[in-house]
Amino acid sequence: MKPIEIRPGVYWVGVNDRVTERFEGLWPISEEGISYNAYLILDEKKAIVDLSKEMLSDDFLAQLSELFDIAELDYVIINHMEPDHTGALTHLLKLAPNVTILGMPKAVQMLSDFYGITENVERLSNGQELSLGKNTLRFVYTPFVHWPETMMTYMVEEGILFPCDGFGGYGTLDGAIFDDTCSDIEYFESEALRYFTNIVAPFSKSVLSAISKFEDTPIEIVAPSHGLIWREDPGRIIELYSRWSGYYKKPAEVGITALFGTMYRNTEHAMNAVLEGIASQGVPVYVYDVRKIHTSYILPALWTQSGVLVAAPTYEGGMFPDMMNVLMMADRKRVGNKKAAYIGSYAWSGGAQKDFESMAEKMEWDVINSIGFIGGSGEMDLDRARELGVQLAQAVISDSGA
Ligand code: FEO
Repeated sequence: MKPIEIRPGVYWVGVNDRVTERFEGLWPISEEGISYNAYLILDEKKAIVDLSKEMLSDDFLAQLSELFDIAELDYVIINHMEPDHTGALTHLLKLAPNVTILGMPKAVQMLSDFYGITENVERLSNGQELSLGKNTLRFVYTPFVHWPETMMTYMVEEGILFPCDGFGGYGTLDGAIFDDTCSDIEYFESEALRYFTNIVAPFSKSVLSAISKFEDTPIEIVAPSHGLIWREDPGRIIELYSRWSGYYKKPAEVGITALFGTMYRNTEHAMNAVLEGIASQGVPVYVYDVRKIHTSYILPALWTQSGVLVAAPTYEGGMFPDMMNVLMMADRKRVGNKKAAYIGSYAWSGGAQKDFESMAEKMEWDVINSIGFIGGSGEMDLDRARELGVQLAQAVISDSGA
């Protein structure tokens, strides 16, 4: 895409990544892709805020060359050192060898650690400002949104916030880069939630802290380094991130994520009875087959819904492996504040129920009930399974205060 002017003298110079299969080597984006947004400010001094992943350096530098002679660049602003935003730096420096690189002290250390860059680097302090001529940039330290060195840059006169990973989302920018020009805002909000739960959620407390630092700051545009630029309704993405982050410490939405894995469908039949019990209470339920669906697509429900049903059999004395993978990632992403229940079959000794209870305790989930049954689902009392569903649904309703 060509550079796009978002305010006089301020340009989006981002690139779309349609090559990477898994973001961070973990999260599927082969269908959705992702954008690495960077922003060029052409004032008396010329500055760029964030860069791109190394493999897209050619596209990125071509974007810049359309607007000016890269050798004239004065500043590179490093909001965040992760290589999806700094990979192009060494290529850029070949064209602009005298540029000054600005970042928080931890970013300066990482510049040396990642790229061996130690010259023409300046440490910023929280709240420090830089005049570019007509425009002023203010640097606000927002550690752990997403790494410890992360900061957000605020352009004072235009009210533009450049928050890097904060308020970002998956999905390439297919011709339209703004919230008011994209054709499917719900898709981008959904991909922002998936990105949030995959990448940012463990740092929810830091996100809320960062948002609080801008409470009294007029924000006219939120220009993150992944996904849409929010100019028609910048408060929308801030509100969404604030709501999602808040779920780390208080009950989430009234609904249940039903995770299931099954070998010979005995656990599946029992789960169906649990689902009947949940449905009888009018609580929404979202069913995910962990054998088929990547955890990336499960985490949004797991994070936002108050209840969790784990339905999985014992496999070789322990939890069904695909389910264990989901639970381990849920733990890694600090999915807490859940009302939870378990059901699953075993052939002789069991073990899945014990693993579930151990993981639930680790994540501080409130286990409402837990049923392991031997053999086929025809051998168990399905009324017990229905009752488990009722109990879980009622606990979720009760937790919401409804
Ligand atoms: Fe988009 Fe944490 O890097």
